[in-house]
Amino acid sequence: MKGVKRILAAVLCITVLLGLTGCSNSVTGGKRIIRISHAQSETHPEHLGLLKFKEYIEENLGDKYEVQIFPNELLGSAQKAIELTQTGAIDFVVAGTANLETFADVYEIFSMPYLFTSEEAYHATMNDTDYMNTVYESTDEAGFRVLTWYNAGTRNFYAAKPINTPADLKGLKIRVQQSPASVNMVKAFGAAASPMSFGEVYTAIQQGVIDGAENNELALTNNKHGEVAKYFSYNKHQMIPDMLIGNLKFLNSLSDEEREIFEEAARLSTEVELENWDDQVAEAKRIAEEDMGVTFIDVDVEQFKEAVADVQEQMLEDNPNIRDTYEHIQEINAQYSDKEASN
Ligand code: GCU
Repeated sequence: MKGVKRILAAVLCITVLLGLTGCSNSVTGGKRIIRISHAQSETHPEHLGLLKFKEYIEENLGDKYEVQIFPNELLGSAQKAIELTQTGAIDFVVAGTANLETFADVYEIFSMPYLFTSEEAYHATMNDTDYMNTVYESTDEAGFRVLTWYNAGTRNFYAAKPINTPADLKGLKIRVQQSPASVNMVKAFGAAASPMSFGEVYTAIQQGVIDGAENNELALTNNKHGEVAKYFSYNKHQMIPDMLIGNLKFLNSLSDEEREIFEEAARLSTEVELENWDDQVAEAKRIAEEDMGVTFIDVDVEQFKEAVADVQEQMLEDNPNIRDTYEHIQEINAQYSDKEASN
């Protein structure tokens, strides 16, 4: 089944890409086709958010644009799809900030372990559009710009064997995203890091090429990782957002009025994505536990924090470009811990 899916994906990919090179600007029947690539299934909150994006654009600019969404890495892994967006072969891609680090190193900040001290502080940071726009401009030179963010929850380790303490990570081979900062973090935990694309993780665990991975709960169900990794440990090391990224030339080619419609569509897509997130996580947890036999382990998070206590300072020393955002986030963290204290 996997093989068939892969072949279909390859055929679709070649067809789309040949179409793109054969037909400049992707104009069909007088309409400009907007292509969006993402790595998730069609039930994932991001896909639902993107359907809203499509609906809003077609409602307002439907005589001019048709939006096509390609889920499940059909157009290639996140890295590949970012490159396609960079060159303008496609127009938008959803990818985690971890994949952006090699284009603009300010994005390393989001891979810093235990950066946010609460979910509230994470959301407040990402919803602070004025500040985030200064970060989003950092990839202009690379030819693309972030329009909005999507929640991708909290990342945790999961493996074929239980991980109860940081000592259990020693000697394990753990998949990470193609992110230099995440490689360093996993090494600091004492495990070996194996960077690979999301679509390769299932088979890599199944074949024993790696011992486990790290992600949010939806990876267990939407990507079926719960079939091959039966222990999910709530050590909560990162909250890494996903981003809706657009080709800059395309965005700049829009009139002011059109640009506003695209920005509003992006904002609405985030609203829908966030609305769906918590329920889908709860449902994924239920399915993983009841139908897939996954055990969720509540670990002592403090032990995991201590194991990587030096990483924040080291990252700040190595990359001065993350300092401003780091300090900004510390202020937001403090606001939310004050709120908690006064409750
Ligand atoms: C999450 C995240 C994706 C990312 C994936 C991964 O699913 O939402 O953007 O690609 O993790 O670990 O690769």
